[in-house]
Amino acid sequence: MRLVLLGAPGSGKGTQAARLKEHLRVPHISTGDLLRAEVAAGSPLGLQAKEVMARGDLVSDEILLGMLEDRLSRPDVADGFILDGYPRNLAQADALGHLLARLQQPFDHALQLEVDTERLVERLAGRAQAEGRADDNPESVRNRLKVYTDLTAPVIDYYRQRGMLKVVHGEGSMDEVFTRIVEAISVGTEVG
Ligand code: AP5
Repeated sequence: MRLVLLGAPGSGKGTQAARLKEHLRVPHISTGDLLRAEVAAGSPLGLQAKEVMARGDLVSDEILLGMLEDRLSRPDVADGFILDGYPRNLAQADALGHLLARLQQPFDHALQLEVDTERLVERLAGRAQAEGRADDNPESVRNRLKVYTDLTAPVIDYYRQRGMLKVVHGEGSMDEVFTRIVEAISVGTEVG
């Protein structure tokens, strides 16, 4: 199964991808995690990305595509993957389509986790207190939500218009959301 998870910051993509990874037995590829690993390693790419991420802006399309091509050419994705955090703008959506066509690995579902903005802000504030992630401060969260509305929300429409989108209500307990996702990707309901 090849799954693309979409949703605003704090919608639960990472949380649900960790569960789906066990359920589907395919790797979870999070572009945010890949970038944070580069930052932690102090690599040239990480140094370039660090400030951009802390502000909540998007790292360049070129860097992301290179990183993704590299990750998707590893053998562990032969049976599928869960992609979390990509695509984040229309250029990335086009690039992903071309890349997967070239790899002959079209994805099965683009799945959006839909969560109210108020709830997103609450969740990210909770994580800021618990974990202190560099981009969970109020100013960066505001910018991440704006970037999502301006640049990433059109990606949702892009897949909807192509009949490739499933929408899952992302509120409620983590178990409830997980059950909804599994139903949506199993029986093909809730096409948005
Ligand atoms: P990324 O790491 O992708 O961050 P994000 O999209 O802002 O996502 P989050 O990790 O904040 O939210 P999530 O939806 O994964 O929710 P989570 O499960 O963590 O990207 C970070 C940065 O990297 C970007 O801003 C950008 O700079 C750069 N970047 C990444 N990809 C890029 C790309 N393609 N192009 C350019 N730049 C890119 O949950 C959030 C919190 O809510 C957690 O505390 C969790 O425990 C809690 N929670 C989850 N589900 C529930 C629930 N059901 N009930 C209650 N709490 C819940």
